[in-house]
Amino acid sequence: RARVLSGIQPTADSFHLGNYLGAVRNWVTMQDTHDAFYCVVDLHAITAGHDPAQLRTRTRVAAAQLFAAGLDPERCTLFVQSQVPEHPQLAWVLGCLTGFGEASRMTQFKDKSAKQGAERASVGLFTYPVLQAADILLYQADAVPVGEDQRQHLELTRNLAQRFNATFGETFTVPEAFIPQETAKIVDLQDPTAKMSKSASTLNGLIDLLDDPARAAKKIRSAVTDTGREIVFDREAKPGIANLLTIYSALSGRSLDDLTAAYDGKGYGDLKKDLGEVVVEFLRPLQERTRGYLDDPAQLDKLLAIGAEKAGAVAAATLRTAYDRVGFLPPS
Ligand code: TYM
Repeated sequence: RARVLSGIQPTADSFHLGNYLGAVRNWVTMQDTHDAFYCVVDLHAITAGHDPAQLRTRTRVAAAQLFAAGLDPERCTLFVQSQVPEHPQLAWVLGCLTGFGEASRMTQFKDKSAKQGAERASVGLFTYPVLQAADILLYQADAVPVGEDQRQHLELTRNLAQRFNATFGETFTVPEAFIPQETAKIVDLQDPTAKMSKSASTLNGLIDLLDDPARAAKKIRSAVTDTGREIVFDREAKPGIANLLTIYSALSGRSLDDLTAAYDGKGYGDLKKDLGEVVVEFLRPLQERTRGYLDDPAQLDKLLAIGAEKAGAVAAATLRTAYDRVGFLPPS
């Protein structure tokens, strides 16, 4: 079986619909087709200042949401990044193979550091993509299911794997990004030119998986749509409607053709009302299952400990090989 690894940051009180449709939904499917490793990347979550108690809570909520979304500890390995110390250990080595200019060209770094200001942006923010490469290469992942915004980080990961292999001998699998185009970029409900994101300017633009379902339906109903009246799938001319159709199709399993045929002659209001109900039906059971996991934090921590142990065994073996190739002495 091919190996898959992906990660998600616990930087908000809940994941949003973009995270789910762009990534997590595919993680769930891939646990049946791949040897699957998924990681709550708490080390990545401290690059811009954080509150320790809040981080702990958010890490558990993140894990609970992932289990609730369908990750099954019997069929995949879900773990918390900081519980597998090999991640920052390999990141150091990869950092020494990364050019300063190369890292400076990462657009997420450029955007975030521009927002924070050069003096306030941390070195951790700068080396963030190197740690991400370590996450992936430690597991010899063949495929990495992510949204469109991670493409450049994946390209860097591939370059680092090839560079390490060329310098020190064949060691790492060169991973492929797995970015299904339909849901690769869910956009903001209030601003279809921006991706749905935790740092969105308006809360109404984003649906959290833990949003009150009635409120989520209201956000759908008040989503910005385009001029005109016809319900057709056209990302260029009608990005707002295209986004709603994308969400509708992904949550209901109905094809875009089926949906546009069904809404032929109907108005935007009909589409939004129906999609609101689909979203409610999706959120309710998901939230109930999430609460179930959070009601028993000891059990949740136990599942994560099992995940960390399974992940750690793979990571340790890869790191040992990499350290040996680099020329470090064997562990004493
Ligand atoms: P993060 O935590 O920002 O997002 C998690 C996943 O959600 C996807 N995503 C979206 N997909 C579609 N539409 C959107 N609006 C949208 N917003 C977010 C992201 O593309 C991502 O797949 N750097 C990564 C975390 C990471 C990682 C890794 C990923 C760390 N190590 C190793 C893969 C492999 C990040 O910040 O994702």
